Amino acid sequence: MAQVTSYQSDIRRLFTERDIQAMSKAFNLASYDAVKAHAAIIYDRVRGIGGAVMPPIPPGRFSSSQ
Ligand code: HEM
Repeated sequence: MAQVTSYQSDIRRLFTERDIQAMSKAFNLASYDAVKAHAAIIYDRVRGIGGAVMPPIPPGRFSSSQ
């Protein structure tokens, strides 16, 4: 039988404390209800739609050719 996906066990751990702090002015990434309420704009920004890709890639992670 398929496993049930849950915010607490599958999604929450994808966000670092830095992510949560950085975005706390806009919404609470540590809260299922807040992430659900902002799901559409979050999904857009992780694809780079509507602004810079979120989360920002840390400097030095990739070379400029990648
Ligand atoms: C998966 C969801 C997201 C994660 C993990 C995330 C993570 C972050 C992080 C780590 C920063 C800090 C960057 C830094 O200090 O260098 C940041 C800044 C920011 N994020 Fe997000 N973010 C998310 C979603 C969004 C969404 C949905 C929006 C807007 C619709 C957004 C708008 C911004 C803006 C405007 C900043 C400030 C950029 C700046 O300081 O120049 N983020 N985010």
